[in-house]
Amino acid sequence: MKKITIMGTGYVGLVTGTCLAELGHEVTAVDIDELKINNLNKGIIPIYEQGLEELVKENKKQKRLFFTTDIDSAIKQAEVIFIAVGTPPLPDGSVNLEYVKSVAESIGKNIKEYKVVVDKSTVPVGTGDCVTDIIKKYYKGDFDVVSNPEFLREGSAVSDFMHPDRIVIGNGSPRAEKILREIYSNFDTENIVFTDIKSAELIKYASNAFLATEISFINSIANMCEKLGADVEKVAQGMMLDKRIGTKAFLHAGVGYGGSCFPKDVKGLIQTAQENGIRFGILEEVDEANNAQKHSLLVKIQKLVGQDLRDKKITLWGLAFKPHTDDIREAPALVIIKQLLDRGAKVKVFDPIAQESGKKLLGDSVSFETDLLDSTKGSDVVVLVTEWPEFRTVDLDKVKKNLKQPNMVDGRNVFNPKEMKKLGFNYISVGRY
Ligand SMILES: NC(=O)c1ccc[n+]([C@@H]2O[C@H](COP(=O)([O-])OP(=O)(O)OC[C@H]3O[C@@H](n4cnc5c(N)ncnc54)[C@H](O)[C@@H]3O)[C@@H](O)[C@H]2O)c1
Repeated sequence: MKKITIMGTGYVGLVTGTCLAELGHEVTAVDIDELKINNLNKGIIPIYEQGLEELVKENKKQKRLFFTTDIDSAIKQAEVIFIAVGTPPLPDGSVNLEYVKSVAESIGKNIKEYKVVVDKSTVPVGTGDCVTDIIKKYYKGDFDVVSNPEFLREGSAVSDFMHPDRIVIGNGSPRAEKILREIYSNFDTENIVFTDIKSAELIKYASNAFLATEISFINSIANMCEKLGADVEKVAQGMMLDKRIGTKAFLHAGVGYGGSCFPKDVKGLIQTAQENGIRFGILEEVDEANNAQKHSLLVKIQKLVGQDLRDKKITLWGLAFKPHTDDIREAPALVIIKQLLDRGAKVKVFDPIAQESGKKLLGDSVSFETDLLDSTKGSDVVVLVTEWPEFRTVDLDKVKKNLKQPNMVDGRNVFNPKEMKKLGFNYISVGRY
């Protein structure tokens, strides 16, 4: 079992640290955010992630998981240091590496003996070399830097970490490889890809960019369906039966992808390509198509309630960028809310989990509803933006009675268009008739 330090206790750091503790390692998780660490020490979990709270509590109790703001000691005591800090986008789409660089500097200043530094943050190709150079500025001894990108999905992060499709380890050093093999010894080694650092870094970007491409592709097909009178769900079903396309494909039309990864990773890869004199035109289109898709609900809302949205009451179901998370970073709902508020609409929002994140960002510009059915009372239209499971089973008759007009825009194709019409709704979804 290894002594591991995790730098950063966000979605990735907290889940990684907790799961590694669950696997028996002794883990110290560090953050510069004192409030977060104080709360974690009191058992208050800063994010919503299924199963995480129980695991944190249990591993703290077993004395395998510790939380601290003491970066220097946490680095000194570890055999292996994971970097899991944020890599947010800069305004020009490039990746902000200040947090990664700051951690590298702390590591350089505090190591006194061989350690493995594992980069789990999503970082542009070449960052492994940059981290190595920074550490070398302060420390002349032996150490290894490994790229081990994370593929967990928010909403199922614990399960994804514990049952990964694959583990990618990029490093040329047999010593570091042996240590990483030990850390991941509980996992199916057939699904571990050992490669060089740069290839590992690129695997992460290429994977997210490919998935984003699938989403923008099917959304573009959905837009064609709307013009041509075809049904995107049938088109996707027909496509996915082709084994080369695959049944696990991301072919679900909707209001576009959001979250803290796809938008920034697509832009990050475009930027890396540009810096190397390559124009990654496909990805530029993917990004553009996604922005357009996030704006597409407005037209549908106006089709139902008229162009003038002043004082129209609009209920939004869902804020989180996808179900089972409280993360609203780059959520399509935020784009739609801004469009509606700019046009003078009164917006009511219901989200079963992401209300608190929403309040921090939106303040009282919208009203936050605490009951799904009540949220529709007196509204001109209800707009479904995130496909939370409770929306699928809502009593639609009651929704219809609550609404001023039986108008629904379904941005995630949750309901059946024929049934909605039968129930008397004016119903518009994505790429279906
Ligand atoms: N969120 C995801 O679903 C996901 C999935 C795979 C990969 N990733 C990648 O993982 C990385 C982390 O993402 P996240 O969503 O967990 O970010 P996050 O913003 O939720 O968390 C980052 C944490 O790092 C802390 N931090 C910043 N500087 C620090 C320092 N010097 N020392 C210690 N802690 C510090 C911050 O206070 C914050 O708590 C990013 O590169 C992201 O692209 C994220």
